[in-house]
Amino acid sequence: MKKVGLVGWRGMVGSVLMERMREENDFASIDPVFFTTSQHGQPGPDIGKPVQPLQDAFSIDALREMDIIISCQGGDYTSKVFQPLRDSGWDGYWIDAASSLRMNDDSVIVLDPVNRHVVDQALESGVKNYIGGNCTVSLMLMAVGGLFREGLVRWVSAMTYQAASGAGARNMRELINQMGCIRDNVAGELADPSSAILDIDRKTSDLLRSSDLPQSEFGVPLAGSLIPYIDKQLDNGQSREEWKAQSETNKILGLYNGGIIPIDGVCVRIGAMRCHSQALTLKLNRDIPMSDIESIIAESNDWVSVVPNDREATLQQLTPAAVTGKLDIPAGRLRKLNMGNEYLSAFTVGDQLLWGAAEPLRRMLNILV
Ligand code: HSE
Repeated sequence: MKKVGLVGWRGMVGSVLMERMREENDFASIDPVFFTTSQHGQPGPDIGKPVQPLQDAFSIDALREMDIIISCQGGDYTSKVFQPLRDSGWDGYWIDAASSLRMNDDSVIVLDPVNRHVVDQALESGVKNYIGGNCTVSLMLMAVGGLFREGLVRWVSAMTYQAASGAGARNMRELINQMGCIRDNVAGELADPSSAILDIDRKTSDLLRSSDLPQSEFGVPLAGSLIPYIDKQLDNGQSREEWKAQSETNKILGLYNGGIIPIDGVCVRIGAMRCHSQALTLKLNRDIPMSDIESIIAESNDWVSVVPNDREATLQQLTPAAVTGKLDIPAGRLRKLNMGNEYLSAFTVGDQLLWGAAEPLRRMLNILV
């Protein structure tokens, strides 16, 4: 059995990974070793079979013993440990949720339902670094990857509605605290049916603009508002999250240089918990019937489903509330736009901690063992 080192398994993405690995009985086919950055020597987690005490995640000697390492510890950890480990001569497989190594030439971005061919080629040619993609990109490709596979996509504009979880666990807590604070601020008026809505609104707006609303993580209100900027500012006017759409999609699909498909849009944080949604406009290479488009999408992997473009189905199936905690990737609002028959509209929702983070990693592990 392969010795698999797990680092960062207690954080949010790591916990979702552990949950999925337990559900799928992944631990049965590996010899897991759990690492910690702060508590080495303490007992390992309960995974249904004995494990050795926690190892030091900064010990190159301990890490070198592993055939495979999966890290959900974050980019700072990867930046600190990965190169010294490779420099020590370690030749194992490195699977990582963090973005630090994603765009390196000797790394592949893993999303096997979409790019198994790229993963297989990389394995054959000796690539050892397999990195999870940006959540928004992975979720977009899980939804409409079939259209890319069929060579139908000329360009995509992705307008995103991204959940608090993408910013971190503390941000999820802050979102709920903001919601509670907003509600509590007008509890008296809400209880009185004769109170004036504009008074409630004024009081709420005053709170949103005051420092009384908890906002140490987001810096601004998210509940009752939105944040149209995600990640760092780049020099070209894009946010780093927006930049990732084109660069990562093309890398995942194995498209380079002349073959690159332009993808761009605006990434927006909204008050959902852990599901990212995206409104996509796709320019197709040719006019193909809607029924063909729907079949290509529905048949492209086992998790995507086409939601009929009617109001009731959309409200029931195509929302963060419906999808949260599930591997399902609904794609709906599919229709040709007024701009012409080659312009397709789509809306998709996906859990950013599952297909957006943990799931591609555990599947890559299973490809290796
Ligand atoms: N960058 C994403 C977000 C999450 O902020 O929502 C990680 O892929």
